[in-house]
Amino acid sequence: RPNHPQYQSGPTPGQNPLSSRGLSTRREQYEKDFPVYKQPVEVGCFSLDSERRFFNDNRQMRYYVEPDRSPNFDLRDGYKDRFIKRDDSVKEKLDHMLRWILANRSKLSSRGTAASSCALDVDFVTWRGHLTKLLTTPYETREGWLLAVTRFRGTLYISEVETEAARRDQENRTERHEEMMYWGYKFEQYTCADNVHSLPDPGGVVNTNEAFCTVVQTRLADHRLLFSGEVDCRDKDPNAPAPPACYVELKTSAEISTPKQRSNFHRFKLLKWWAQSFLPGVPRVVAGFRDHEGVVVTVDTFPISKISHLIKNEQNCWKPTVCMNFCCEFLSFVKHIATEDNPSVVYLLSWEPHRDVTFSIHRDSQYSFLPHWYVEEMTR
Ligand code: A3P
Ligand code: MG
Ligand code: MG
Repeated sequence: RPNHPQYQSGPTPGQNPLSSRGLSTRREQYEKDFPVYKQPVEVGCFSLDSERRFFNDNRQMRYYVEPDRSPNFDLRDGYKDRFIKRDDSVKEKLDHMLRWILANRSKLSSRGTAASSCALDVDFVTWRGHLTKLLTTPYETREGWLLAVTRFRGTLYISEVETEAARRDQENRTERHEEMMYWGYKFEQYTCADNVHSLPDPGGVVNTNEAFCTVVQTRLADHRLLFSGEVDCRDKDPNAPAPPACYVELKTSAEISTPKQRSNFHRFKLLKWWAQSFLPGVPRVVAGFRDHEGVVVTVDTFPISKISHLIKNEQNCWKPTVCMNFCCEFLSFVKHIATEDNPSVVYLLSWEPHRDVTFSIHRDSQYSFLPHWYVEEMTR
C-alpha cells in the first residue's frame, strides 16, 4: 500500500482516522479547525419535467411566495386524487448529472491547455444528497450507507447503492408514513409559484417527477468538487443575489411544544437541514411547522449561517466542523484507495453505525454505474 503522509496504517483506530480496517467515524477524531470550504459557485442547472425527462435549462424553477406566519395549510389535501408519485424503483444513479456534464463539457474541461490526465478538472462528481449523508455520518446512529466509487479519466464519481435495510424499510412503510412523505411536497405547492408574477396553485397536481437542480463547483481542502442538488425555489425579487444565494430550501416539521421536542429538533432536524443547504450555499430554510393532522400552524425562516449559534446551548450537540472534517477525510480515503482508472471498476464503500468505513473492489459487476453513452462520449 502506498505511503500516505497524513495517515499511517496500523491497529490504532483511536489515533488515526485511517486504520488498517478502514476509516473511523468517531466524532472526537474530527474536532479540529474548520477545513477550507470555498463559496460554492453555480456553474449550471438542469430540469426534470413531469415525465422525468432531462432539460439543460431552468424551466422547472419555482418562485417563493411568502405565506402568512400562521397559514393553516392543509397538507393532506390532494393526496388521494391530485398526486403523481415518482417511481423510486427506477435507480437513476448519476445519469442526469452525467447528461448535464456532456452538455456543458466546454465549461469544465481543460482540453487544449496543459496536458492533464483529468478530463474534467474536478476530483469528485456526485449528488449533493450523497455528500449530505457523509456530513451527518459521525452523528448517525440508525442508518448505514453504501457508496460506489469509480475513477474515470482522473475524476472520482460517487453514486449511492441502496442498502438492504433501506429497501426493507421502503417495503414496510405504513400508509400513514406514505401519506406523510407527501406533506413536504404539498407544502412546496402552497409556497411556490411557476412564474415571477404568478401565485401558488394549491388546487393543482403535485408531481414529484418534476425537479429543478443546481450544479455547483467548490473545493473542500484539496478536493475539487462538482455536484448537483435539487432546489425547491428562489427569491422572486429581481434584485436578489445571484444563485445559489437567492435559493430557498423548504421544509416541514412537527410543531414544537415541549423542551424535549425543541432539543430533538436542534439535535437531529437542524443537523440535516444545515448539511443539505450549507453544501451548495443555499442561505435559508423556510420551515412549516405542522400538527398531527397535517395542518401548518406556523412558518419560520432559518438562516443557515445562524443555525450553528442556535444549537450552541444544546448539550452534546453536533458540530459543523466535525461534519466537514469527516467528509474531507472520507474524500482523502477514497482518493487513496480508488487507484485504478477504469469505468467498469467499482470501489464499494460501506458503513454501518458504530463501525468504521470499509471497502471492497468489484470488476464488471452489478455495481458498475457509468453508462456506456457517457464513457464513449468522454473518451472521444
Ligand atoms: P420535507 O422537507 O418537508 O420533509 P426536500 O426537503 O429535500 O426538498 O424534500 C422534499 C420532500 O420530499 C420532503 O419534505 C419529504 O416529504 C420528501 N422526502 C425527501 N427525502 C425523503 C426521505 N429520505 N424519505 C422520505 N421522504 C423524503
Ligand atoms: Mg427539495
Ligand atoms: Mg425541501
